[in-house]
Amino acid sequence: MRKKVTVVGVGNVGANCALRIAGKELADVVLVDIVEGVPQGKGLDILESGPVEGYDVNVIGANDYEATANSDIVVITAGFPRKPGMSRDDLLLANYEIVKTATEQAVKYSPNSILVLVTNPLDAMCWTAFQISKFSKNRVIGMAGVLDTARFRTFIAQELGVSVSNVTALVLGGHGDTMVPISRLTNVSGIPLSELLDQATIDRLVDRARNGGAEIVKYLKTGSAYYAPSAAAVEMVESILKDQKKVLPCAAYLEGEYGIKDLFVGVPIKLGSRGIEKIYEIKLQPDEQAALAKSAAAVKELIEVIKTKM
Ligand code: NAI
Ligand code: 2OP
Repeated sequence: MRKKVTVVGVGNVGANCALRIAGKELADVVLVDIVEGVPQGKGLDILESGPVEGYDVNVIGANDYEATANSDIVVITAGFPRKPGMSRDDLLLANYEIVKTATEQAVKYSPNSILVLVTNPLDAMCWTAFQISKFSKNRVIGMAGVLDTARFRTFIAQELGVSVSNVTALVLGGHGDTMVPISRLTNVSGIPLSELLDQATIDRLVDRARNGGAEIVKYLKTGSAYYAPSAAAVEMVESILKDQKKVLPCAAYLEGEYGIKDLFVGVPIKLGSRGIEKIYEIKLQPDEQAALAKSAAAVKELIEVIKTKM
């Protein structure tokens, strides 16, 4: 039987996720959005690209969740995107309500699914989905680190004039201005970054990666990034559906790892058919550990706000 993926929120990120999932023939796709006609229209449009692109999966859209029943994965992208001058955290309460409803419906129709969260503020939305779904912690995963490392890798490759495919990077922490790119463990075909770039340049690239989302918002003015975010979410979907067991930085529920408890924070995980199959706890330097603790504290602040609304 073919796999089935539901994408909730058929805006820029959601529609591009659907297109990529269909393009790679990973699964049949069901699109859900509150705006009447949009999921149906975009679903049909993506389906009609199949004969030209050479993919053959079913894509449908709906305004309710009935058609989503028994999805293997539910990708939640529903929510408001960040506008210029708006922090990811401003989105908190508006998107909390949206993610809560989406999670309730996902659980009702697809009780065995894996939830992949994209909606911002990412780590807090993962926590919301985890609490509402009552799924085991391996089945609620957030997309941020794959995107953040993709940005860091891009900037490093540009700086060095090398292929991005040779650059391996690690970014820990929450998806926000406090994210923690670990340049010490970043390398180009095994060559440590510190052998290739001076510290001032590394710091500049780290800073650019940290502000990578805001950089795109500044250009677009009416919304935030979606090509790289959808590519990142679909890399996770593919790793789960094909049981690839890729090691990727993703937001995972921590119960003491890295000294962090009851929070979703970005860490390296093994991603396979059971969702999060392992959390890798690597030894950090004191400054990296302090930066991660600061990032986790920023996530915790948001959770405290959400708790007052639950
Ligand atoms: P968008 O505005 O293009 O699309 C959002 C869609 O959600 C709209 O079609 C809207 O109608 C729909 N929606 C709103 N309420 C809904 C509900 N209750 N049920 C179903 N659909 C609903 O926004 P975009 O650019 O697609 O971004 C979506 C979210 O993803 C935002 O919160 C954004 O900040 C976040 N994001 C997160 C990233 C990450 O790294 N985690 C990267 C990029 C975006
Ligand atoms: C990004 O990093 C908006 O979180 C989104 O592009």
